[in-house]
Amino acid sequence: MPAFAVIGAQWGDEGKGKIVDYLAQHCQYVVRFSGGNNAGHTVINEMGEFAFHLVPSGIFWPQVTCIVGNGVVIDPDVLLDEIRKLQERGVDTSRLLISDRTHVIMPYHVRLDALEERARGGSAIGTTGKGVGPAYVDKVGRVGIRAGDLLEAGHSTTFLPRLAHVVKQKNAIITSVYQGEPFSLEKLQARCVEWGQRLAPYIRPTEPVVHQAIARKENLLLEGAQGTMLDVDHGTYPFVTSSSPSVGGACIGLGIPPHVITGVIGVFKAYSTRVGGGPLPTELHDATGEAIRQRAWEYGTTTGRPRRCGWFDAVAARYSAAVNGFTSLVLTRLDVLDGFPSVKVCVAYRLDGKTLNQLPTNTSVLDRCQPVYEELPGWDQPTASVNHRAGLPERALRYAARIEELIGVPIDLISTGPRREETVVVRPMIKA
Ligand code: IMP
Repeated sequence: MPAFAVIGAQWGDEGKGKIVDYLAQHCQYVVRFSGGNNAGHTVINEMGEFAFHLVPSGIFWPQVTCIVGNGVVIDPDVLLDEIRKLQERGVDTSRLLISDRTHVIMPYHVRLDALEERARGGSAIGTTGKGVGPAYVDKVGRVGIRAGDLLEAGHSTTFLPRLAHVVKQKNAIITSVYQGEPFSLEKLQARCVEWGQRLAPYIRPTEPVVHQAIARKENLLLEGAQGTMLDVDHGTYPFVTSSSPSVGGACIGLGIPPHVITGVIGVFKAYSTRVGGGPLPTELHDATGEAIRQRAWEYGTTTGRPRRCGWFDAVAARYSAAVNGFTSLVLTRLDVLDGFPSVKVCVAYRLDGKTLNQLPTNTSVLDRCQPVYEELPGWDQPTASVNHRAGLPERALRYAARIEELIGVPIDLISTGPRREETVVVRPMIKA
């Protein structure tokens, strides 16, 4: 069985882009199943450094077909810009397909994202402001515009009445609730027509392509975005994104049955980060947190915001493993912890004099939890750029082993830097 899901196991930004690029060498398909251009993937390879948001991270391998699945929301301007930039740098984008069921982030979604955030005041979620949440709201509210609709955006009897209905609704909210400027229906339709024309070569029903690949037993990499702790159901609600970054989202976001997913690869950073609001129990407000941020340059790829940093949280990690059923773990950015005299792992929480081993549901409770740390000796010898297991310092291996033990899943790959070759394969996960 051929599908391997690469899942963000924490609060996003675990370094999935590099891992997907690395694992894609053994695959024929890389398919994205959730999120939008709130995600930011950085890939560094022999062609240079690429930071993108929507195009799957497998695009650099000539044998790979990249698919943006139905569970993704696309901002056409962002996608077209990424396609153009890739083409300018000589990357073949004819291997990119976009599901006709993918929902479109419309300009009113971006506006509403900003207006809603402002209205939330002190309890703002800290969204990326890309219109992702409002686009998913319209999908579920059955007033969304899909990529396939863009292909008939000039039609006055099919497309226009649907757009007119939703624009009227959005304008009423924008003008009455937020005293903002309304959108012009004609201008929006014209933009949809243009997007449809420019994206037409990429838009098609992608489920049959995926189903045929599965029937041929080709290797598919299911590329997750964001992280499990940001999942709309399983994350730290309401401080979450509006999609399902956990493995369940892959079935819905691509139209595939669960039994074809034989490998669920959980990507963990060697420490914790979070961008935006919401609880982060191991957050460090001291010099150590700042040292991690500066060493790792923990600033958002999409928004440039500083990420909140802290020690590895094994309570959240165990929960994430339970939700996703990880079969393998990947540990990224181990090199960031090089040279610390000691490193800490949160093994439980303390709340009101009691020890908690499980992640509480309510953020108000999680906010009050204090981490219980286990302290492990740090390592002097660098792990940065090491590409074989024997080259890793004994104490770094001990740290990785403790994380494995706490989660109960083996670490099969360790990333020691942003480049493809800065990777330690402990056990190959995908056979070519
Ligand atoms: P939204 O997805 O833009 O609505 O933002 C909701 C929450 O998810 C905010 O806390 C964002 O910072 C966070 N978020 C969304 N996408 C990412 C990501 O790719 N990495 C990390 N955090 C993200």
